[in-house]
Amino acid sequence: MALVLGIETSCDETAVGIVDGRKLLANVISSSVEEHARFGGVVPEVASRAHLEAMQQVIKQALKDASVTLKDIDAIAVTAGPGLIGALLVGVSSASGLALALDKPLYGVNHLSAHIAVDQLDNDKKITPTIALLVSGGHSSILKVKNLATDVEVMGATIDDAAGEAFDKIARIMGLGFPGGPIIDKQSKDGDLNHVNFPRGLTSAADLDKHQYNFSFSGLKTAVARYIEKTPNYKKADVAASFQEAVVDVLLSKSLAACKESGIDNLVIAGGVAANSRLRELAKQRCEMSKIKLSIPPIALCSDNGAMVAALGSLAITQGVKPSQMGIGADSAASIAQVIW
Ligand code: KG4
Ligand code: ZN
Repeated sequence: MALVLGIETSCDETAVGIVDGRKLLANVISSSVEEHARFGGVVPEVASRAHLEAMQQVIKQALKDASVTLKDIDAIAVTAGPGLIGALLVGVSSASGLALALDKPLYGVNHLSAHIAVDQLDNDKKITPTIALLVSGGHSSILKVKNLATDVEVMGATIDDAAGEAFDKIARIMGLGFPGGPIIDKQSKDGDLNHVNFPRGLTSAADLDKHQYNFSFSGLKTAVARYIEKTPNYKKADVAASFQEAVVDVLLSKSLAACKESGIDNLVIAGGVAANSRLRELAKQRCEMSKIKLSIPPIALCSDNGAMVAALGSLAITQGVKPSQMGIGADSAASIAQVIW
């Protein structure tokens, strides 16, 4: 079993996780989210600086939580993309420095695959081959995963906003704060999800022809904005619940269609939006009905963290994937096809 330290800095979380094979030993997160809240979104320069300030302390705390020292670590993994370039570079430089100083292998890993890999911690589930619904602040994709470290194929993706981005934008329009996903999730609990029948993007017969597994949330965003404009006394909880239902419904219909068409009866849902309570509930119901095995990481491991990076590094080692070259950079627009650098 390899002891892997994973570093994640692709957005506003400075996060370090330590795993021993598939066992989670530490998961420390320092977030700069409050520094961004008043801007209604993450400010890249502010995030990079916060990573620099937090990095050493977060590494120290993770080692302490795992009751290990740097000398015990067998390999360093780090998110090399996609994400904010300045933020990614802080992580990649820190990881490269550590790997060099400790003379240990370095694994630059893909942030998106790492979101899925975290589902393998603390269990002996065999999740592949699987369809994966990856929903975060920057991405919404349906993936066919034969081998998480080596063979990931994109079946569909968003053609405009990501699912998390849609939650954040609607929360902003409704004056609810940032990040919007958790707030809308909470508001929706007191709302009627059938109150407004908001549009489900790219689900008409004509759209499905070209965009069977693609998503679009811009029409939904416009529909919510129009509804709010026309209905000054609208109830926030009802609009939040109806909006959330439209997103969740379309995410799940397309994911289940992908399972059916590809004859794969596993579905993994991962990324920050996988923390959404309605998505988790409806996924469970629909997968049970369709006899599909559903797997969603624990809520605490859905949003960005270092454990997921360590988990993917550990998986790469198990699969015999070669370490990355010393001197790798970061790729802000990395595609999911590049799992390990
Ligand atoms: O994966 P993540 O932590 O960061 C990225 O890689 O983007 O995802 C962050 C996104 C944000 O847009 C946030 O609003 C959304 O995940 N999110 C949620 C929930 N918790 C976080 N969206 C809906 N419901 C939630 N409970
Ligand atoms: Zn993420």
